[in-house]
Amino acid sequence: MNRSDSIFDTQRTMKFHLELTDKCNAACPMCGRTKEMDRCLPDMTKVRNIELDLDLIKRNFTPDLCSRISEIDLCGGLGDPPAARECLEICDYFVGFGIKVILSSNGGLRSEAWWKRLGELFAGTESLVEFHIDGLEDTNHLYRVNTRFGKIMRNAKTYLETGAIGEWHFIPFQHNEHQLADALTMSREMGFSKFRVIDTIRFGEKNGFTYQLPDGSLQELNPANPKLIDALRTDTEKAEPAAPQDQHEHRSTIRCKSEIQNRPYIVATGVVSACCWIEGSEDERRMYSKAGVDQGLTHNIRHRPLEEILLEEPYRTVYPQAWAQQANPVCVRKCARMQRSRRSSL
Ligand SMILES: C[S@@+](CC[C@H](N)C(=O)[O-])C[C@H]1O[C@@H](n2cnc3c(N)ncnc32)[C@H](O)[C@@H]1O
Ligand code: SF4
Ligand code: SF4
Repeated sequence: MNRSDSIFDTQRTMKFHLELTDKCNAACPMCGRTKEMDRCLPDMTKVRNIELDLDLIKRNFTPDLCSRISEIDLCGGLGDPPAARECLEICDYFVGFGIKVILSSNGGLRSEAWWKRLGELFAGTESLVEFHIDGLEDTNHLYRVNTRFGKIMRNAKTYLETGAIGEWHFIPFQHNEHQLADALTMSREMGFSKFRVIDTIRFGEKNGFTYQLPDGSLQELNPANPKLIDALRTDTEKAEPAAPQDQHEHRSTIRCKSEIQNRPYIVATGVVSACCWIEGSEDERRMYSKAGVDQGLTHNIRHRPLEEILLEEPYRTVYPQAWAQQANPVCVRKCARMQRSRRSSL
């Protein structure tokens, strides 16, 4: 098969987005794993408590494939990477090929010794940890429910002391916006290389979000004052442009981020997908049904080799046709109208 027939080109430099696990210590109310109106308990219709292990990774990410991979994001939609039993070993495997690993975490799991080992592994390389910390001692747990700020800080400090790169990512809300400047200062003092704010778009039309804490009390999330963030902002990322002010003035052409970056997504079940936005959506089900492929069985790295999967339908003609016809609402929203949560550095 001609490799250019697929939106993914396994002979070109690749990136990957991996969900190592769907396990998590936290219960962020706006996260897909959380039942926000039921004491932030995990939604067991989605969470299976599974993970990708080192053996499975090695089988699919062969040395030959790894030699063409520049970057792997350990993030995902439902879990925290350090919750995967072999997280450290998997990082070690990828770093051994000179791959830049970006690990996203709430920072609340594991011991200081574990974070020291991760730091020692990443030190002197481009690999980094994004610590997602949305506030200080008295506020972080209002979004990062069930986490303890003191433990997160001790883990981050231990990691950073190894000389490895760490970034502090902060989602501003009304309840933590007054702490942005202090958190920024603290991040510089601790040795974080970047402090980035995530402008969340998960409020939807209502511009408010009610949830129930584990103790049964009701809480509300409200958007931060954008002027406050703008006053601190020094640089807005060009890679993640803002959604246009006027929704009707959007660009109509879909430019698939995953195709451009040659960056597929793999979830903890082993299922391969085009990206984390389309994964599990009605759009994706339709693409797979058109392709006549059973995604769960056939496009699963537990059952078939990754490099074969990436060159098969729906990644050859089904996706490009759907884009040309504007048939995928998710693709239109994310990769034409650019309705994404924007990140920028302060
Ligand atoms: C599901 S998490 C998985 C990785 C890890 N557990 C974490 O939280 O960083 C994936 C990403 O979603 C982000 N996230 C969580 N809540 C969000 C929100 N309300 N708006 C935008 N991004 C959010 C996290 O910060 C993280 O970058
Ligand atoms: S830490 Fe990440 S995976 Fe866990 S609940 Fe929060 S956003 Fe979801
Ligand atoms: S939303 Fe659609 S167009 Fe955008 S990256 Fe995902 S698959 Fe590609």
